[in-house]
Amino acid sequence: MTAIVEFDPIGVESIKGALGQDALVLPGLDALKAHLDSNPFEDSVVLGPSVDQQEVFELAEQLRVTRPSLGVVMVRRRIDTTVLADALRAGVREVIQDRDLAGLAAAVRRQREIAARLREQLERGDSSPQQAQHGRVVTVFSAKGGCGKTTMATNIATGLAISGRGSVALLDLDLAFGDVAIALQLFPSHTIADAVGIGDELDGAAVRSLLTAHRSGVQALVAPLEPSASDTIDVALVQGIIDILRAEFDYVVIDTPPALDDNVLAAFDRSDVVALLATLDIPALKNLKLTLETLDLIGYPRERLRVVLNRADSKVGLALSEVEKTLKTPISAQVPSSRDVPASTNRGVAIVMDDPKSPVSVAIQSFIEEHIVVTPSSDDAIPAQMRNDRRSGRLWRR
Ligand SMILES: Nc1ncnc2c1ncn2[C@@H]1O[C@H](COP(=O)(O)OP(=O)(O)OP(=O)(O)O)[C@@H](O)[C@H]1O
Ligand SMILES: [Mg+2]
Repeated sequence: MTAIVEFDPIGVESIKGALGQDALVLPGLDALKAHLDSNPFEDSVVLGPSVDQQEVFELAEQLRVTRPSLGVVMVRRRIDTTVLADALRAGVREVIQDRDLAGLAAAVRRQREIAARLREQLERGDSSPQQAQHGRVVTVFSAKGGCGKTTMATNIATGLAISGRGSVALLDLDLAFGDVAIALQLFPSHTIADAVGIGDELDGAAVRSLLTAHRSGVQALVAPLEPSASDTIDVALVQGIIDILRAEFDYVVIDTPPALDDNVLAAFDRSDVVALLATLDIPALKNLKLTLETLDLIGYPRERLRVVLNRADSKVGLALSEVEKTLKTPISAQVPSSRDVPASTNRGVAIVMDDPKSPVSVAIQSFIEEHIVVTPSSDDAIPAQMRNDRRSGRLWRR
């Protein structure tokens, strides 16, 4: 069920019109809190335009801790970037414009799905919602250069940070040619190369001292400024750094070079989610298929993989169903092409922060919600052959 707080009767009618009659209208925030206390399975609340914005933020901040599965949806007459950023930071999951009734219905549906998945996880006992948000590692990879890995990695990290999901580290493993620092206009005093001299003393404090903060809140460990310095960084160091970042941060997002090298495999090994990027052209898709086959060969668990199509609206004559059939893998997200992407990068902000309502930002935030913040009960998303592989207990072997 969904609980609504809205003081204006006309507002109530339109929200109920969007949500259906099983929505429960409550007279105020105190009544809502009492309702939530006595209804542990309530999955979503809608706070209408007449509810004071600051009070919504305060409530969302409390609920994020006390009821992490509950989706808070805020309806406003006017939405600007500041409201959106403040709302997401407070823990409001979605902000919808009051006339967008279809958008409101879809938002509530999404929140219900997320709540149901979280409950399933709890019932299966595999992880509590809080645990699921701790130290999740997300690696973004594509074997072909220029598919949008850095764009995706910086946007995922920024999206997590500005939506108040917890602390976020961004690691640039494109050691020779990494451009996370350029994409976020960072002026780092240290890079990953400085970890080489630290040796056995490398711990949380030491790694933190090498990070550079972005204004979104993301803490980045950037690639060496000199490509040759990458030779000094071995895989044991990369493993150590990922383990430390994972212990220190709620999320670790990793950008990679366009090659499945030992460092990338070490990142995969430690990842909860691997976003495999491709664009809709034959060379990129061929590389993606080869990557999937290679990962199958080494027994990498398919349930951690997510195929993401970037610039997916390009009119190139490839049908998505054909692509899925060829890859034998479902497509988890499609990010459209937009000139605003390089424009935001040129301003040193990821587009999810620069223009949260753009279709690119919406696609990336949905990917974050559906595949990173919550572990989907992924059996449905995995073709039967892969489910069998998983059931037969085939492990990630290298
Ligand atoms: N959805 C998009 N719409 C428009 N432009 C995009 C999109 N995604 C990425 N780009 C642009 O494509 C270019 C390559 O993107 P990016 O640097 O993220 O790719 P990459 O995979 O990290 O490349 P490399 O393999 O060189 O590291 C950039 O100029 C970026 O702004
Ligand atoms: Mg890159």
